[in-house]
Amino acid sequence: MKVMAFNGSPRKGGNTQTLLEAVLKGAASKGAETRLVNLRELNVKGCMGCDACKNELGKCFQKDDLSPLLQEMKDCDAIVLGTPVYWFHVASQFKALVDRFYCFYGWEPVPDTGELKETMAFPEGKKFVIVTSRGDQENTKAFPRLYEHLSEWLGVIAVAMQSSSTQFVNHYGSMNQKDSASDDSDLMARAESLGASLAP
Ligand SMILES: Cc1cc2nc3c(=O)[nH]c(=O)nc-3n(C[C@H](O)[C@H](O)[C@H](O)COP(=O)(O)O)c2cc1C
Repeated sequence: MKVMAFNGSPRKGGNTQTLLEAVLKGAASKGAETRLVNLRELNVKGCMGCDACKNELGKCFQKDDLSPLLQEMKDCDAIVLGTPVYWFHVASQFKALVDRFYCFYGWEPVPDTGELKETMAFPEGKKFVIVTSRGDQENTKAFPRLYEHLSEWLGVIAVAMQSSSTQFVNHYGSMNQKDSASDDSDLMARAESLGASLAP
């Protein structure tokens, strides 16, 4: 069993990374092979909008470090996506990753009618965990909609773990506290057990 995690936080050792590592630790305790990808360390470009992927669905033609990882993702049993909330949305490093999922998305003709129908060049049935970190408990609307769309598009099972509202970043005076996740032992334990539950 293989679990791959993508960390969209630009901050080394921040809350997102801490939680992702806890999820992977839980998965590894059940024998899973794990990999953490820190997007900030890689040369990751945005989607070019070139549509070359529409002629070879599932393949991204961007020449950077992410293209091979998108292929590796298809072979994983579980994928863990992590990002902090930045300006009511995701961090730009994470958005670049999500935009690149466009290579999996296309249209194919229905045999009888020739009518085009949406298709997804991404294996179904994968487990999918979303880890988020935010400083504000109040504004929780915009970002979860992205989760819904993502899980629907990728045809995966979503286990949204929003480490947001109550237990997580509770330092309102200092919105961007770095280690509030590791200070929250309940949250850390939950992240680890969620990781363990990924293994069959
Ligand atoms: C540029 C920037 C924008 C942010 N915007 C929001 C926001 O809109 N809502 C929120 O709840 N927290 C916001 N935060 C706080 C972070 O989401 C929070 O500190 C999070 O824990 C950071 O994760 P990290 O430790 O993995 O970097 C922002 C932080 C930064 C640096």
